[in-house]
Amino acid sequence: MSPLLARRLRVVSGVLLMTYLTTHFLNHTLGLFSLELMEDGRRWFIAFWRNPVVTPVLYSALVVHAALALRSLYRRRHLRLAPWEAWQLVLGLSIPPLLGTHIVGTHVAWALFDVTDSYTRVVLALWGHVAGARHSLLLPIAWTHGCIGIHFWLRLRAGYRRVQPWLFAVALLLPVLAFLGFVMAGRDVTARAQADPGWALAVARATRAPGPAQRAALAAVYDGIMIVYGGALALVLLARGVRRMRQRSHSFRITYPGGRDVVTPIGFTVLETSRFAGIPHASVCGGRGRCSTCRVRILRGFPELPEAGPDEVRVLRRVGAPPDVRLACQLRPTRDVVVAPVLPATAGPSDAAFQTDHRGGREREIAVLFADLRGFTSLAEHRLPYDVVFLLNRYFEAVGGAITRAGGIPNQFTGDGVMALFGVESGANAGCREALAAAAAIVERLAALSRELSDDLPSPFRIGIGIHVGPAIVGRMGYGEGVYFTAVGDTVHVASRLEQLTKDYRAALVISEEVAIAAGVDVSAFPRHEVTVRNRGVPVAVRVIADPSRLAAALV
Ligand code: FES
Repeated sequence: MSPLLARRLRVVSGVLLMTYLTTHFLNHTLGLFSLELMEDGRRWFIAFWRNPVVTPVLYSALVVHAALALRSLYRRRHLRLAPWEAWQLVLGLSIPPLLGTHIVGTHVAWALFDVTDSYTRVVLALWGHVAGARHSLLLPIAWTHGCIGIHFWLRLRAGYRRVQPWLFAVALLLPVLAFLGFVMAGRDVTARAQADPGWALAVARATRAPGPAQRAALAAVYDGIMIVYGGALALVLLARGVRRMRQRSHSFRITYPGGRDVVTPIGFTVLETSRFAGIPHASVCGGRGRCSTCRVRILRGFPELPEAGPDEVRVLRRVGAPPDVRLACQLRPTRDVVVAPVLPATAGPSDAAFQTDHRGGREREIAVLFADLRGFTSLAEHRLPYDVVFLLNRYFEAVGGAITRAGGIPNQFTGDGVMALFGVESGANAGCREALAAAAAIVERLAALSRELSDDLPSPFRIGIGIHVGPAIVGRMGYGEGVYFTAVGDTVHVASRLEQLTKDYRAALVISEEVAIAAGVDVSAFPRHEVTVRNRGVPVAVRVIADPSRLAAALV
């Protein structure tokens, strides 16, 4: 089975099971109001889930999901997992024994002996018994397992960040409300049984509660399920052991940057080898071949490598990877190789292939804006450090807000200066218009801030802004915690130079004429100069703009 098909089956079956669980929990929450309402809800629940069409689909999803989990357990060459994967695995493996009793006591009892598994009967059977505690354990385990899966599936999707707080709230609240509904129902049935000693017996009779012989038959069914599940799990572990013994004598060597060598049995992926050796290696999707963050450049040994499968090729194509780059989680070398991870080990979901692919490093035509506060040194003199930090943060807030609002990415706050990128997604023309709008907004916001802080400032804030457009290499760069999305290249250098020219021209904004052309604004009314820039053979034509709001008006 191809990894892509396995992944799709896992997602589809997982989503179906989570849908079932969600509706089941919603039904439980009705217990907060009354037992009768719970029973009403159950009628709808049963009508949907227990019918000749949906029931086989639901149980197939359960079996497929469990089988895929065992398959994945077999395919892993070692069990040094990221914490979330370890939790996912442990919780997942503990579900079948807990779920088995619940299914046998409800659906199987109904199917074999026509037992009505109403809430009243089931809660009566569970409340105050060990089975009830076991059932209460099943709810959070299954729910947490499902939530981890959904989170790590969705987090590579655009837009997930926006809905994540809402989903998180639901993930937290729903099981709590469901549990409270179950507790309320338990207290309700206890009160009814105490008020009328014959009530519980009447319920048992009306729902055809299983007798001793039927209970023995149901226990045998449960044992059968456990034998199949336990046997499958034992087989997988046995197969892992056999494979390990057979491959012990066949190994290969991976050399990492810095000359570190790791020798591992043939069959390990490069990512498994990194984890096995404790070498930090980015793997946002946990080695499922989806995110591309694990990719490595093959520095030596490329011709001897097994060819990439269609799924790997598709992901590599999506990020525009050159031919000597492979996914570490899919590549199982059979000979010695020298590799270098392309992304830092700290790479996150924003670096994944599902995000815009410039994150991995691309050349783009963008507008770059540099802004610098004038006279800040004298402003900071004779002030307490706390005051300086306060003023700077208010300043960065005003400038950063203006940039973001205009559509830019403020990506460097150094000293009292800011660098921002525009048009990374929207293209150079839109980027230039956004950058000009941002320049006007920055000046406007700083004027408002100066008025607000007039008692604390010897003079209003003054700023110099330079904007240039052109090709730049964009991507996430840096080291360790300091990795961020930025741009490098001549365009950045020129924009920085234009910002410095604002001092010479005593103006708020200096832009290259290319910016005006790309933005489609008429700048003929503003003074024109030609300036030389280091490492540039030809001078750059610039326009000096004392009041950026005049330009912003032309943009509308
Ligand atoms: S870890 Fe995500 S593609 Fe390899």
